[in-house]
Amino acid sequence: MKKLNLLLILVERGAVGEEVRITIRELADDLQISPQSVLRLLEDAESEGLLKREIRGKKTYMELSPKGLQFLEEVCDKISSVLYNGVILGEVVSGIGEGAYYVRQYAALIREYLGFDPYPGTLNLRVLFPKTIFDALCNVRPVVLPGFTREGRTFGDVRAYPIKIRGLNGAIVVPSRTIHPPRIAEIIAPAYLRRELNLRDGDLVKVVVRE
Ligand code: CDP
Repeated sequence: MKKLNLLLILVERGAVGEEVRITIRELADDLQISPQSVLRLLEDAESEGLLKREIRGKKTYMELSPKGLQFLEEVCDKISSVLYNGVILGEVVSGIGEGAYYVRQYAALIREYLGFDPYPGTLNLRVLFPKTIFDALCNVRPVVLPGFTREGRTFGDVRAYPIKIRGLNGAIVVPSRTIHPPRIAEIIAPAYLRRELNLRDGDLVKVVVRE
């Protein structure tokens, strides 16, 4: 952890692609450890090849090595893959009563592409984690319900992501045209989820994306 913090501080101070002058005192303050501990940390990081350090006169110059940057990227990837592994946490909220209309329009496609007869409506979850549903869905390939025209109205493509909500099957549906990542997850399911799962506005639920 200290090593990670040291490298992050060096990046913040601009030590990427160029040497930056940083004193041991500054690092000790930033890291909230003693100057002796900073020196040890720097020696370790240097011997691991994560940074270059040069002392000229009384001044110390430091720069992250490509290996140091790679180390940070690996940590970043690791955190993302563990954290964004298809779990969404949301709070049940009420919508504006439009869900039922749209689900009826797409019902035949939902049956054909997702294999269930949807309850007419969408259960809306205000997404608490991750920040947007796209963070949780970025590695998942959606089922695309193709758009169509009916009675002069155009209904666009809809991306559907099969999920489980407290053990029940369903899907998160997102209009394909959406540009802004939605903060509300709209869930369709064969079951009337509020009744089956005894859900009320404000309840927290976990949704697991099925690959
Ligand atoms: O009013 P709102 O837009 O939230 O709802 P709707 O899409 O018209 O759906 C009617 C009601 O059924 C809402 O309370 C939804 O939360 C709920 N619902 C459900 O419990 N399970 C589903 N599979 C779909 C909707």
